[in-house]
Amino acid sequence: MKTLWGGRYRGVTDELMWAFNASIAYDRRLAQVDIRGSMAYARALERAGVLPHEEVRAITDGLQLVADEFDRGEFRFAPTDEDIHTAVERRLGEMIGPVAGKLHTGRSRNDQIATDIRLFLMDELAALGDALRHAQSSIVAQAERHLHVLMPGYTHLQPAQPVRFSHWLLSYFWMLERDYQRMADLLRRVAVCPLGAGPLAGNAYGIDREALARDLGFNGVTENSMDAVSDRDMLLETLSWAAILGTHLSRLAEDLILWSTAEFGFVLLDERYTTGSSIMPQKRNPDSMELVRGKSGRLTGNLMRLLTVVKGIPSTYDKDLQEDKEPLFDTLDTLEMLLPIVAGVVETLQVNEDKMRAALVEGLLATDLADYLVRRGVPFREAHGLVGQAVLQSEERGVPLSKLPYEVYQAISPAYGPDLYAALDYEASVEARNMRGGTALEAVREQLERAQAILAK
Ligand code: ARG
Repeated sequence: MKTLWGGRYRGVTDELMWAFNASIAYDRRLAQVDIRGSMAYARALERAGVLPHEEVRAITDGLQLVADEFDRGEFRFAPTDEDIHTAVERRLGEMIGPVAGKLHTGRSRNDQIATDIRLFLMDELAALGDALRHAQSSIVAQAERHLHVLMPGYTHLQPAQPVRFSHWLLSYFWMLERDYQRMADLLRRVAVCPLGAGPLAGNAYGIDREALARDLGFNGVTENSMDAVSDRDMLLETLSWAAILGTHLSRLAEDLILWSTAEFGFVLLDERYTTGSSIMPQKRNPDSMELVRGKSGRLTGNLMRLLTVVKGIPSTYDKDLQEDKEPLFDTLDTLEMLLPIVAGVVETLQVNEDKMRAALVEGLLATDLADYLVRRGVPFREAHGLVGQAVLQSEERGVPLSKLPYEVYQAISPAYGPDLYAALDYEASVEARNMRGGTALEAVREQLERAQAILAK
């Protein structure tokens, strides 16, 4: 096998080693950004007076032809193409002759690949940001449609306090909003140009790195060439961002899976997002949400995979870093499917208001009864105990708190007045929580407006 480093070699690379070493099977996805980077680098060489205009013209025109071949799906890989960089350069040589060999002046595949993945990520993150926004919009739309619906809120999966369905749903909007912010923040660190770092020590041809960075749409340049060629923080951040986002979506999925069971029946997933069973005709399985839950494991695994690869490598580029691409691509591809699926499920979700109402049990109002006693001057800790006794009585007698006779309350404590029954009201409970971030109608409306304002930006 003829190689790039043929000069100092007498023999050939072992065949298995060749396959082991090659990354072309997956880094071919970087073709367009690799070519974009090369075109800009050729222009930088011209500005630095290293290559004359005609040669740079030949190189950039030739690169455009190579890009077109990729676009049309007509690019033919050769068995000697080790990675995307060598493939593009080889093809350029076939098209424009030996002048192609001048493109790599002062550049290394080390700063080249570091540039490629950043360019690639800038495009991908922008697209995923849009998909994330879309998922957020579907949440807001459903919340708005069901502003009034009450349901039991749970802690420890035990009925806790009544809440609005819209309030529950919007809780996921804010999780995804933090994910959006995290993405925008990490994008700032992605958009920094390492080109000109060379293999590790820098570029000896006097190229203007700032101009080169601007040409490629970066916001700035890296400050240390040794750091630049081996920095994969932006990938770790991306995988970490994706793992956290996946965790949020997994929790949403879990809520929806549970609530779509026959036992809960709070929601019904649209047919489009469920599947049947090959043997049990009655089945309508929430596979979409189960896969969302399952794929979060994959996203977390990809983060662990790269963290483990990076942790032991010594300064500057080592081939271990080639292992960065597959987890990255897998994570981006996973999110690309996952986000629209979640948006679709939420958008088409049927909400069963009656089932939610029927699940409201008076135990959910125990805190409100304690609040009632507090308003009558009883210290909260004491009130907690007095309501606990009432709950015990209601369980023993098999009647809800609102059907427990007044004498029973009186016997527990004279602090209970005849107006205690008014505290046992779901609507009143929810409306009492009228503060920013609370579940009262006005508070949820304001929350919804804030969410809408974010989406409108
Ligand atoms: N295929 C390599 C990678 O993905 C490109 C950089 C190769 N650099 C080198 N010195 N062999 O990391």
